[in-house]
Amino acid sequence: MNFELTEEQIAVRDAAREFAKAELLPGVIDRDTEAKFPAEQVKQMGELGFLGMMVDPKYNGGGMDTVSYVLAMEEISKIDASASVCMSVNNSLVCWGLEKYGTEEQKEKYLKPLAAGEKIGAFCLSEPEAGSDATSQRTTAERSGDHYILNGTKNWITNGNTASIYLVIAQTDPSKGHKGISAFIVERDSEGFVVGKKEDKLGIRGSDTHSLMFNDTKVPAANRIGEEGFGFTFAMETLNGGRLGIAAQALGIASGAYELALAYSKERKAFGKPISQHQAIQFKLADMATEIEAARLLCLKAAWMKDQGMDYSQASAMAKLYASKVAMEVTVEAVQVHGGYGYVKEYHVERLMRDAKITQIYEGTSEIQKIVISRSLLR
Ligand code: CAA
Ligand code: FAD
Repeated sequence: MNFELTEEQIAVRDAAREFAKAELLPGVIDRDTEAKFPAEQVKQMGELGFLGMMVDPKYNGGGMDTVSYVLAMEEISKIDASASVCMSVNNSLVCWGLEKYGTEEQKEKYLKPLAAGEKIGAFCLSEPEAGSDATSQRTTAERSGDHYILNGTKNWITNGNTASIYLVIAQTDPSKGHKGISAFIVERDSEGFVVGKKEDKLGIRGSDTHSLMFNDTKVPAANRIGEEGFGFTFAMETLNGGRLGIAAQALGIASGAYELALAYSKERKAFGKPISQHQAIQFKLADMATEIEAARLLCLKAAWMKDQGMDYSQASAMAKLYASKVAMEVTVEAVQVHGGYGYVKEYHVERLMRDAKITQIYEGTSEIQKIVISRSLLR
């Protein structure tokens, strides 16, 4: 067993760390307050290759492994989880799904600009009445000649207003249950496609989360991904990788908060000495560091399994379940270590605490991860 990172993996991690400190940190508090999408920074991330990291270079990607992706996600998430969820969706859900299951034409037309970061993608599975219960899709796609006609509403879509390419899951044959669900590529300017209201959120406030409406939206049959009926499997397979991206995001939120708490504990004095000299604070730091290390190992193991071509669905669900719990616990403790200063925006930890919560909800709630894990254990 070898826990050493390669030179390339270290270089990717360091580049992401530098970028996050130099470009994401300035203005992160204002963007959170104003719920402003980090448009300029995401453009830079595309130019630096962070939006199509694992895609084959022949489709404009970085050709990197999943371990490098997890390392970069952790670094970006330490500073700005709104930027990192955009990165995660584009890499793990949109680019991966297209590269794995798209036709050559679809890859040429859609994957190339997405991997280069020239265009941003969105992944549209959830609906007002189909969140955890994802097979209950109400959005329909009816075949009409060489097109499909889409009708329905998608909810909570990350990159909802920033994206120009949307992977949309819809029901093509309700009589077949989840085997009657298909996946489509929908372009932003399609007729009858409407971007709905932006959600005003607790955390990841810079991320643009929108509902989307399809009103007799015409989509070419050539934009279907895989066969009719393949859409649910497509979504689940894609989410296995997506969950790993969110696990790495949770890890980054936790380690970002921990690093701030560690530094603050050495500076802040109480009862004549730095608070890091009080055992109660030392024990908090010890617990935080231990939990973060365990979460990191789960993330890296799942990434390594994916890179080996192994079945990593259980591993990625475990990584997300655990890392998101650690993110919640560590960020709450980081606020505590900061005392009153932790409760105000200037010290960053209150934002990280608010950002942490979403990692227990999206890409499958913690309860859903337990379903995925237990079904795999009992199979
Ligand atoms: N990997 C591969 N296949 C999977 C799978 C996985 N992780 N989980 C389920 N499947 C397959 C099953 O094998 C089954 O296929 P077959 O019929 O061919 O055997 C099929 O999917 C249906 O599975 P179930 O019978 O288990 O269906 P279910 O309705 O009982 O439960 C579920 C399925 C796991 C709960 C699923 O509905 C689910 O994952 N729900 C959560 C939805 C989710 O994660 N949404 C995220 C939206 S995207 C997002 O959130 C992005 C973002 O925020 C940034
Ligand atoms: P529900 O499914 O209604 O769940 C409510 C509660 O019941 C939860 O605690 C849940 O765990 C629990 N529950 C439900 N079923 C069970 C069960 N069988 N056993 C035990 N407990 C259960 N979706 C996308 O498709 N694309 C996106 O880009 C996207 N981005 C998002 C961004 C944000 C900020 C948010 C908030 C959501 C996003 N989502 C996205 C949707 C997200 O995936 C769903 O919110 C999530 O899957 C939960 O669905 P729900 O909100 O309908 O909750």
